[in-house]
Amino acid sequence: MARHKPATPSSLTEVLAYDEALDRRVCGVSLSEERETRFAEEGAHDPTATHYYVLEELFSHLDFDGSSHLLDVGCGKGRVLAHFVRQNYPGKATGIELDPELAEVAARWVGHYDNLSIICGSVLDIDLSRYTHFYLFNPFSPGVLQTFIESLEAQLTHPATIVHMSDNGDTWHYVGRSGWTELASGSIQYGHNARGYPFTVYDCPQHYTIWRYEP
Ligand SMILES: C[S@@+](CC[C@H](N)C(=O)[O-])C[C@H]1O[C@@H](n2cnc3c(N)ncnc32)[C@H](O)[C@@H]1O
Repeated sequence: MARHKPATPSSLTEVLAYDEALDRRVCGVSLSEERETRFAEEGAHDPTATHYYVLEELFSHLDFDGSSHLLDVGCGKGRVLAHFVRQNYPGKATGIELDPELAEVAARWVGHYDNLSIICGSVLDIDLSRYTHFYLFNPFSPGVLQTFIESLEAQLTHPATIVHMSDNGDTWHYVGRSGWTELASGSIQYGHNARGYPFTVYDCPQHYTIWRYEP
């Protein structure tokens, strides 16, 4: 299946414009969100969306087939699901979001796609056993992450792939646990224009790790 070519924006302004244009093309609404979370007491982090050019890089490490089911853990308004349908990946994708206002925005546009769905609630309260891929972009505090990883280990009976973006510090929660293998890792701070010159997107490097979990 042909995938869209990687983006080559040449400034942060162009990154944001690229995000906005793709959001509107795929979903009909902007999926960017700049406000602070209303759920900090539950360990939630702010609902910042992943840039498409970052998703293009991270998802180049993943394989999906007809039986794949991706869960975006803390989906916000659904940027990751928009990337999933734009790239015509096989299988299904679900987003779960703690904030009902964000989940409602996501559910509205996701309803146009048969292979996408949204759950409003906490990832700590749902059955994780049906999913084959998990995406996390800095969703919550270390305490919630620890509980999430323990739930995954308790529920999964098949191998799964976990992408944790912006795991600065959080990456240590996975290290040394039985069944976990690191497939890839890296760091994203800059974009690169068509000539390869860098420009700053994030104030500090955003480390990511891609894991395989074999129960
Ligand atoms: C940084 S945003 C990531 C948005 C989206 N995944 C993306 O990459 O574009 C993290 C989101 O996780 C949500 N979240 C935090 N704790 C959660 C939980 N326990 N269950 C579900 N969602 C949660 C937050 O409300 C926030 O919208």
